[in-house]
Amino acid sequence: MAGMVDIHNHILPQVDDGADSLETSLEMLRRGLQEGIEVAVLTPHFKPGDDQEKAELHQQRFAQLQEAVAGAGMAIQLFLGAEVGFRFGLAEVARWPGIPLAGSRYVLVDLPPGRLSGGLEKGMFELRTAGFRPILGHPERHRQLTQDEDQLQRLREQELLFQIDAGSLTGRFGQRTQKAARMLVERGWAEFVASDGHNLEKRPFTLRAARQWVEEGVGPEEAQLLFSDNPWRLVRGESIAFREGQVRRIPGRPAPERQRGWLSRLLGAGK
Ligand SMILES: [Fe+2]
Repeated sequence: MAGMVDIHNHILPQVDDGADSLETSLEMLRRGLQEGIEVAVLTPHFKPGDDQEKAELHQQRFAQLQEAVAGAGMAIQLFLGAEVGFRFGLAEVARWPGIPLAGSRYVLVDLPPGRLSGGLEKGMFELRTAGFRPILGHPERHRQLTQDEDQLQRLREQELLFQIDAGSLTGRFGQRTQKAARMLVERGWAEFVASDGHNLEKRPFTLRAARQWVEEGVGPEEAQLLFSDNPWRLVRGESIAFREGQVRRIPGRPAPERQRGWLSRLLGAGK
């Protein structure tokens, strides 16, 4: 269980809808440490329209938090990044300090709400050609995307990496999202699971319960990959292998369907 790295959370204090004080940030980190999170990449929201001043504010807050963590003698390593809301000119924004995850070439992208246009695929292509590697944050929580098998498939064909929220796997966002999250993981269409922790109560900085589900539902090797190995590679700036979707049989459960439209049918799209 040791050695988990969380690549998506809102622990950085007083910059978004995450931690509302330095004390909350420290308490979130304390609890994360207790359950085996050793490294956290802090990813405050960076919304369309946010400018370089906002990125600088993140860096200042990050320095303050690091100082407080050292002062408290906490053995957790922190890096800065951002959860960047999709917008035009993303490749330019990705060059700003503090935006890519842990100073790597990986960029965590938050999908726009509602129906997704072809502009998304174009933007992702531009990001890739600029030398960045986009990671889609919690695609399982995007209702339109999970109902559109063709688009989901096209995004995977672009080799976009998927990050699933721990809370999605454990049912925090409802049954529909849970089913989508579990199916993506079962298919091998996930590279990371992260906490997306916002606070101490409703959306905590925890991974353990989700990891347990992956260990039991898919296997310990997959859990090791999603919670430790891939996130470690990310913070070290190493490359992360993209896998074609695999259909794996879970003991005691029917295998996911191979045919086109599996996710739409599963989620009752078009009803
Ligand atoms: Fe987030």
